[in-house]
Amino acid sequence: MPATMTALFGGTGPDWTPRQVPVPEPGPGQVVVRARAVALNNADAAMLAAADPTAGGTGEEYQAGFEFAGEITAVGEGADMPAVGSRVMGTTPGSFAQYVRADRRHVLPVPDELGHEEACALPTGLLTEHGALAVAGFQAGQSVLITGATSGIGLIGVRIARALDASRIIATTRDAAKRDLLLNAGADTVVITGEQDMTQAVLTATSGAGVHIALDHVGGRTFAACLPATRTDGAVVNIGRLDRAASTIDLDALAYRHLRLHGVSFGFTRAAELGDVIAAAGERLLHAVADGRVRPLIDATFSFDTAAEATARLRSHQALGKTVLSVP
Ligand SMILES: NC(=O)c1ccc[n+]([C@@H]2O[C@H](COP(=O)([O-])OP(=O)(O)OC[C@H]3O[C@@H](n4cnc5c(N)ncnc54)[C@H](OP(=O)(O)O)[C@@H]3O)[C@@H](O)[C@H]2O)c1
Repeated sequence: MPATMTALFGGTGPDWTPRQVPVPEPGPGQVVVRARAVALNNADAAMLAAADPTAGGTGEEYQAGFEFAGEITAVGEGADMPAVGSRVMGTTPGSFAQYVRADRRHVLPVPDELGHEEACALPTGLLTEHGALAVAGFQAGQSVLITGATSGIGLIGVRIARALDASRIIATTRDAAKRDLLLNAGADTVVITGEQDMTQAVLTATSGAGVHIALDHVGGRTFAACLPATRTDGAVVNIGRLDRAASTIDLDALAYRHLRLHGVSFGFTRAAELGDVIAAAGERLLHAVADGRVRPLIDATFSFDTAAEATARLRSHQALGKTVLSVP
């Protein structure tokens, strides 16, 4: 194992800067993974902007990234499963590096059918969308509304809901050109927000009842519109705030329908609990990953050298699926 490695750092300007840093050693309960591919998330762009010293950001440097896939090269005390040499995918802060140190509970085995590029783009979507469905108490045969469904994790959510036998999946996008993308991912109904009233369209698609569960990635007015689109005793889970974090909701819709409202932010979940969320997603979904029902859509793959192009793609919101970096 080399003594140093390349990692991408934020807090230096509008884009990441490669730096040479020591290869990490695994602590108790940790593994070190030789990363082969890493994937970008909306959070990476937000963190980069917040730390950019040339645009009023904090200027605090940090090793960037969350998702990765590769092979285990070292294990710490009490972390002998999975073994050295195993292919894994996982999530940990600072994943944009040649060697990634992670809690062993935060990695999952990669099915043989999956290459590194697809594998690295799966963990966040898998754990977040499955975790949100679990929080809502999802059961096979229930209907699901997914807002902001063309987002990297939203598309995985549509596939997961399909693999877990949702009775009806209603997916939203602002862009009519993305209708087929959502239908191909497994949505039964696509609502084009801006052209259609989302609540009305969901009620029409569910014979007036509303969906059992709404997974909201958009926030703002879209979150508010999820409430009257959800049936009595149903649940609305806020996952993302692609539009805005503030929302004015109709308390009548909440109370009369006996709705449950949840928020999830797995980046802020304690390590052991996150391990449980990841284990549950793996147990329930790895077979569907292996047989191709749950796969991420890859928009484009860049290298560490062209990472600035990858962030531009992410910021553009034009990407269809996940943006990936191959690791040198
Ligand atoms: N809770 C958690 O643990 C967790 C974990 C991961 C991510 N997240 C959050 O989940 C959301 C999705 O993350 P991601 O990385 O998958 O996102 P992403 O791929 O960057 O999302 C891109 C999509 O977002 C939609 N979008 C962008 N701005 C929008 C707006 N103002 N209103 C409505 N839609 C908008 C666009 O869809 P259209 O053009 O098709 O409308 C675009 O295709 C983010 O808010 C992220 O912070 C939460």
